Amino acid sequence: MCGIVGYTGNKNATEILMKGLKSLEYRGYDSAGVAVFTGSKIKTVKEKGRLKNLKAMLLETSVEGNTGIGHTRWATHGVPSDINSHPHTSEDGKIAVVHNGIIENYEELRVMLKSKGYTFKSETDTEVIPHLIDMYYDGDVFCAVKKAVSHLDGSYALGVICENEPDKLIAVRNRSPLIIGAGEGENFIASDIPAVLPYTRNVFFLDDGEIAVITKGSVNIYDSDGQAVEKLPETVNLSETAAQKGGYEHFMLKEIHEQPKAVADTLRSRISNGKNVKFDGFDAETVTGFEKICIVACGTAYHAGLVGKMVIEKLAKVPTDVELASEFRYNEPLLDNNMLVIAISQSGETADTLAGVRLAKEKGAYVLAITNVAGSSISREADNVFYTYAGPEISVASTKAYTTQLVAMYLFALFLAESRKTLKPTELDIVKNELLNMPETLESVLELEGEIKRLSKEIYKETDMYFLGRGLDYKAAMEGSLKLKEISYIHSETYAGGELKHGPIALIEEGTVVIAISTNKEICAKMDSNIKEVTARGAYTVVFANESTATQHKECSDIITMPEVNPLLTPITSAVPLQLLAYYVAYNKGEAIDKPRNLAKSVTVE
Ligand code: AGP
Repeated sequence: MCGIVGYTGNKNATEILMKGLKSLEYRGYDSAGVAVFTGSKIKTVKEKGRLKNLKAMLLETSVEGNTGIGHTRWATHGVPSDINSHPHTSEDGKIAVVHNGIIENYEELRVMLKSKGYTFKSETDTEVIPHLIDMYYDGDVFCAVKKAVSHLDGSYALGVICENEPDKLIAVRNRSPLIIGAGEGENFIASDIPAVLPYTRNVFFLDDGEIAVITKGSVNIYDSDGQAVEKLPETVNLSETAAQKGGYEHFMLKEIHEQPKAVADTLRSRISNGKNVKFDGFDAETVTGFEKICIVACGTAYHAGLVGKMVIEKLAKVPTDVELASEFRYNEPLLDNNMLVIAISQSGETADTLAGVRLAKEKGAYVLAITNVAGSSISREADNVFYTYAGPEISVASTKAYTTQLVAMYLFALFLAESRKTLKPTELDIVKNELLNMPETLESVLELEGEIKRLSKEIYKETDMYFLGRGLDYKAAMEGSLKLKEISYIHSETYAGGELKHGPIALIEEGTVVIAISTNKEICAKMDSNIKEVTARGAYTVVFANESTATQHKECSDIITMPEVNPLLTPITSAVPLQLLAYYVAYNKGEAIDKPRNLAKSVTVE
């Protein structure tokens, strides 16, 4: 999604802005621009397409100064174009604005501003903002911004500069993330932490409604009424190298290989030496009081929720629903204060999931967030947070964030089961001990990479593929299919094995690729019948089995055998080879793996 950077100090602002925008490329964008104080004027340069286009423009025009703002845009209102790119300016070019989010009432604001004589160049919702600031500007840009934002409905993170007040940045946050990086004799704004990491680890997290006035030597934060807010910077512990590729050709491959560590870090955050799982913030009464759980999430996080439902019901015996956040919020869900709502979101910023959190809280439910991003909107609004420790995930296709979400689901299910005493400690220990061994198990799973590479060469030219599974394998198959379509653009669908003959089998013909996940000894014979049904109709069948089920599947075209684990934990071990399969299929096709077309890392629009 869109990215914001801003700088004020003594260095070359354009260079710093471009470097910052580069580090935010992973968020997805279709145009970029900067506005910089050059002498006594603000110069704005913006360009459709990748950052290299903007860079070429900047070589032609000299844009040098010590203060400026930059933006990468992912089109929502208005097509990707030079004109629609940010920064947007007032008519005289003296006020420049970058914006992330959506202004919901922009149409009525346009009408009002037009009636006052303002003209619009772009189709964007954003352009109302510089005009509103201009309308209120009376020598104090802070006051003008404060008045302007009081008209805005929707979500916005803003960076603003004003020609009459050089070397000053104004930053505003409302339902869209924005941080301030505090340096020595220089300060930064950014929509995401990696943009400031080369310069500082001291960060102010703005809260909704706050406005900051930033110069190279000062950061002053105010609430929406203009009252000063006392806030200290927090130190973030992310390393710069963590945000780089570390020798792998793509971030996605690096992140797949980081999973043993990510899983170990997440486990360590809640459990040590085989003791009970710890969850601060839940008192015994709250934990035993929940009558029902509802998990709310989107995409890959939703798939983690589907696994979570099965595990929570099996171990903790609490009835659990899973809802796509985009459906949940409009379906008038039955919520009350005996319910626990779990919001899963790696970014912590997904608009629909955030709206689900707000709705759940409004109706009195207790909200637990499972997220990978500290200080994210969802983490700040939930009653309790379980941070996964995946580290920064740069590739748009989620891998380590997903497996750590699964780990979070297992840990929470164990915690509930331990607190509610739904199973004998010895029964829970079996699952817990295998979960604690998962980092080592995943190291062995990664050894399948060579086999997956070979398999990917057999199938990468296909245009359609089908995934099959039963029980937890069905959920794992859904995630495998999503990963494949996200980065390889191959059409794929997932079916529960038993559903095949109720319609989808009509799609199978000579050579159709069918990928079956079969890890459960109890139902692998049933799965094998489904595999035979498609094989008989000419399908090229690939089975992802484990040591105990592989012998059941003798008639498939290819088989990948994964290490044996407790049947409840197989979604974690199946996830990794399916991610590798998606990766190598996309690799063979020569696709832009880390930045797939049409997708954004953090979906902050509905
Ligand atoms: C994952 O590969 C996807 N890019 C996408 O489905 C993602 O999981 C979804 O948009 C939810 O994001 P979140 O976890 O940040 O809320």
